[in-house]
Amino acid sequence: MTSNKLTVAVLGAGTMGAGIALVAARGGHRTLLRDVSDETVQRGLDTVASFLRRSQSLGKLTQEQADAAIANLSGTTDLQDVAPADVVIEAVFEDLELKKSLLAELDDVVSRDTLFHTNTSTLSVTSIASGSRHPERVVGTHYCNPAQLMKLVEVAEGRHTAAEATRRSLEFLDSVGKTTVITKDRPGFILNRFLIPWENNCIRALEAGLGTVESIDRAVVGALRHPMGPFQLLDVVGLDVHKAVSMRLYEQLREPRFAPPPLVDRMIAAGDLGRKTGRGFYTYDSTRSFGA
Ligand SMILES: NC(=O)c1ccc[n+]([C@@H]2O[C@H](COP(=O)([O-])OP(=O)(O)OC[C@H]3O[C@@H](n4cnc5c(N)ncnc54)[C@H](O)[C@@H]3O)[C@@H](O)[C@H]2O)c1
Repeated sequence: MTSNKLTVAVLGAGTMGAGIALVAARGGHRTLLRDVSDETVQRGLDTVASFLRRSQSLGKLTQEQADAAIANLSGTTDLQDVAPADVVIEAVFEDLELKKSLLAELDDVVSRDTLFHTNTSTLSVTSIASGSRHPERVVGTHYCNPAQLMKLVEVAEGRHTAAEATRRSLEFLDSVGKTTVITKDRPGFILNRFLIPWENNCIRALEAGLGTVESIDRAVVGALRHPMGPFQLLDVVGLDVHKAVSMRLYEQLREPRFAPPPLVDRMIAAGDLGRKTGRGFYTYDSTRSFGA
């Protein structure tokens, strides 16, 4: 819980936006979650509230802490409501033009001092920041999924990012309990630059019959001490998302190791996207929810 309560606006109430809003609200900041429809805003708010209640029931938060986080949170579809924000965290679709146009619109809504964080997996922070008349205030902050559970955030400066904006960003991320690494504004930053080819290699090992889904996961967890195996992780991320990130990195870096193996396409064609469809590399009981 921070002593310096800020107003944080999260744009996009999807997977990442809901998780990041939870992080900001739980960190003690007034948090506004903004999406384009009442339904998507409500879904995001419900996701946050149910995660907080689950954390409470597991003894990870007291009732007072969960209540305080929920009280910090509100939702809107109106971009004008973002006006008082000290920090705007953009987590909309991975679409350069959409992200740029949103920053351009925000220039006329928020104050000159407002920080802009962009949560992109594969786009250039410099390109996104070029949408704003004040690129010096734009910082890339790549949260890991699920944002509410994973501590690490990669921080990347665009070409015109001001050192003061980076300093304030690190201070904000510290206030919400995140650890940070500074990286370059390059495709994949640090983590996806080696995670994506590694996951693709695990899929290739499966295709080559070197092991089963279970045995490869067991080997990685047992020997490399990862908290979950590559196929468990791919099911959490979603095969469609994995393919999209792989393809965008492949298109930019032109290295075959980023190209998703054929099994990914077959699974997507079959609708086996992972946990969200009840089946991926594993089959899931729809009554179970993941994590807290
Ligand atoms: N999912 C991941 O594992 C992951 C991890 C790190 C970073 N990212 C990045 O985070 C961003 C969001 O990804 P996601 O997986 O949460 O996507 P998502 O599809 O789950 O959610 C995106 C949300 O943005 C909303 N949106 C679209 N236009 C908007 C606008 N103009 N204003 C407000 N909301 C708008 C959509 O309605 C949707 O609810 C992407 O850039 C993605 O690359 C994703």
